[in-house]
Amino acid sequence: MPRFSKAVSSLRSSEIRDLMTLASRPDIISFAGGMPGNDLFPVEEVEELYRKLESKHKQAAFQYGPTPGLPSLLESLAGFLETKGLPVKENRLLITTGSQQGLNLLAKAFIDPGEPVLVENPCFIGALSAFRSYEAELRGVPVDRDGINIEALRHETERPEKAKFLYITPYFHNPAGVLYTTERKRELIETLQGTDIPLIEDDAYGDLSFFEEDRERLKPIKAINPPGIEVCYTGSFSKILGPGLRLGWMLVPEEIYQKCELIKQSADACSPSFTQVLADQFIRSGQIYSYVTRVREEYKRRAAAMVAALREHLPSYVEWNEPRGGFYIWLTLPEGADATKIMMLALEKGAVFVVGKTFDPAGKRNNSLRLSYCNNTPQEIAEGIPIVAHAIRQVCG
Ligand SMILES: Cc1ncc(COP(=O)(O)O)c(C=O)c1O
Repeated sequence: MPRFSKAVSSLRSSEIRDLMTLASRPDIISFAGGMPGNDLFPVEEVEELYRKLESKHKQAAFQYGPTPGLPSLLESLAGFLETKGLPVKENRLLITTGSQQGLNLLAKAFIDPGEPVLVENPCFIGALSAFRSYEAELRGVPVDRDGINIEALRHETERPEKAKFLYITPYFHNPAGVLYTTERKRELIETLQGTDIPLIEDDAYGDLSFFEEDRERLKPIKAINPPGIEVCYTGSFSKILGPGLRLGWMLVPEEIYQKCELIKQSADACSPSFTQVLADQFIRSGQIYSYVTRVREEYKRRAAAMVAALREHLPSYVEWNEPRGGFYIWLTLPEGADATKIMMLALEKGAVFVVGKTFDPAGKRNNSLRLSYCNNTPQEIAEGIPIVAHAIRQVCG
């Protein structure tokens, strides 16, 4: 028997990953994965960008690069982030191997075994597993339609054993779909100020907004730059170019950057130069802006198809959000309902989703489920949602 470390002995394969194996059967309509639509990737545009590169840039693409990222990408990405009002010059930018690595680096930088961290409930599974892998004690704070519950957050910040950080996904939350209101962000800032609890602000989906009027709500807390809070902002190319590039970034204060850069050196030395060169060209050519506009429209269309199907088929006791951007719709079922039973029934009939307890920091609460509309045609949505709704009625009446 291999004698594993304590830290990895407690790691379990997530239900989401196990399900992906089942869901990849070609006859199953999957609302499970949070993946961009395969048909939407800018394959030809990127081919053309690569073809046009000078030889020396092509060679650099095959070479190791500096740990913080290729200088040219750091520069072009800084320009992209400045359009969101982010204080790039007053902070340090680090290219990461997906924003998942950013979360892992921050977790390693802050967490000693048994120490508490604050997370939203529900919470992005990748963050939960990164924090679990350093043996954090996860303290969940509920999320409602407007964002994190401030009363509960205040209570957590006042507990004697102080949390090492708070992690949030305020812009088209995964899995709850929520876009924080401006008011809720203000309250969150006031609650954290003076507590010495850093904030990790994960903005993986903020570019995928459906409505122009939400611009103000999408302004990152990092861009508000509130005094008295160390904000670690993370972002990703996964939803605005492709997850296969494995590229993300973090924008963090100098001291935190120094630690993360050292940790990254020992993790992977540098993120892929090949995809960094491509991402750099994608920004510099301006295509990132037109591409984001295009995919936003497409996701809005897919979301509308799912909303229409849910309105038609769901029983009225199910609560759910109408998405304003991002990839997800979160269904809350009556108290005590078991989403796993519903999932098994739906799977038999050919549709799959992710059950709620996957996103519960305690891994228990299961009267909820996540549907993704990002990687399905409107026709698949129209076929699959009645299957899910029927399974809900079978279990909940
Ligand atoms: C909220 C959130 N953060 C981070 C990530 C990680 O993305 P990546 O590592 O591909 O950049 C995801 C992926 O689904 C996500 O949903």
